[in-house]
Amino acid sequence: MYDYLVVGSGLYGAVFAREMENAGKRCLVLEKRDHIGGNIYTEEVDGIHVHKYGAHIFHTSNEEVWKYINKYAEFNNYINSPVAVYGDELYNLPFNMNTFSKLWGIRTPAEAKAKIAEQIADLHITDPQNLEEQALSLVGRDVYEKLIKGYTEKQWGRDCKDLPAFIIKRLPLRFTYNNNYFNDVYQGIPKGGYTQIIEKLLENVDVMTETDFFEYRREHDNFKKIVFTGMIDEYFDYRLGHLEYRTVRFETERVEDASYQGNAVVNYTAKEVPYTRIIEHKHFEPELEAEKPKDYTIISREYSTEWKPGIEPYYPVNDEKNSKLYEAYRELAEKEENVIFGGRLGQYKYYDMDKVIDAALAAARKELGK
Ligand code: FDA
Repeated sequence: MYDYLVVGSGLYGAVFAREMENAGKRCLVLEKRDHIGGNIYTEEVDGIHVHKYGAHIFHTSNEEVWKYINKYAEFNNYINSPVAVYGDELYNLPFNMNTFSKLWGIRTPAEAKAKIAEQIADLHITDPQNLEEQALSLVGRDVYEKLIKGYTEKQWGRDCKDLPAFIIKRLPLRFTYNNNYFNDVYQGIPKGGYTQIIEKLLENVDVMTETDFFEYRREHDNFKKIVFTGMIDEYFDYRLGHLEYRTVRFETERVEDASYQGNAVVNYTAKEVPYTRIIEHKHFEPELEAEKPKDYTIISREYSTEWKPGIEPYYPVNDEKNSKLYEAYRELAEKEENVIFGGRLGQYKYYDMDKVIDAALAAARKELGK
């Protein structure tokens, strides 16, 4: 008899199982895919760690979480500094003095602030009615037209004028020449990829891959409690309706060139380019390249697409309709005895990795009465 049946071998399930096993509880982890790791899974292809389910950059200001994850991998000093391509122009991200200098040929923060304020004032938008007006009223025309409009329309599959204003609450503008995308204290990529983290977390834990929970449950009752990190609406057999997602399709290819784009992350902000980003995986681990340069590379083009049942769900849609529906499922979940709903699908929430670790540690502590 297992103390816990953990559904899903992603970061949430693996951290929870590790903590419970350390405390002497027995866990069985079920994973419907043919590999462990959930969405942080990286696959080694010709010596390059390919982020199979999208680029993952670890960043946090939570010292406890940083220390925790460092027990399971050594991190490099990768700093995420994406660039944006618009036509044949190239800009640094996040929006900072490098971006503004390239856009307007200016040098000082005062000049950049004046330029943005002048563009915002020219538009006379007092009560933004949609995402376009909201973004224009925050950053002015140039940044919006070149760096926000096309990218956002591809992400959502809709015109910015047809998207609600609340999607964009703030657009951080940085008036220094700092291209570090994240403001967190700690940042990096695990040397050797992410999969090893999950392998180490699940050391000596019973794991069954290619096993769907719903099928397993029909024939087994060898567990006392369930930790469910799959889709909450699926758990309840969609009885209140389907929650919606946006998803991403990846087209991955090997290119016979030492470097395709010179950076791990390049955003394509023009509407005419069908993909939103190209990820070049080898640049996440420059130390490997320094040790043994390769004359080939692996890239993934990301296409933002509509989600349908059966396709991999990625981003929850936090609009009113879906938030209400999730709330109704959450109420059902609260009444479900001996089941903990966790992780990004179990809680229908966009969760960065550090937040997932923090939540799984908190759930384990609660279970152990700490
Ligand atoms: P996760 O989805 O990883 O695991 C759930 C597991 O449950 C899956 O393996 C699934 O197969 C399994 N499962 C589901 N139903 C099942 C069933 N019925 N039976 C058996 N198994 C079942 N974060 C960050 O900090 N930095 C970053 O750069 C990124 N980048 C990023 C890019 C993209 C495209 C996305 C979508 C997300 C990110 N993230 C991120 C977020 C990160 O992916 C996220 O925090 C963790 O992967 C969440 O871990 P979970 O364990 O919650 O879910």
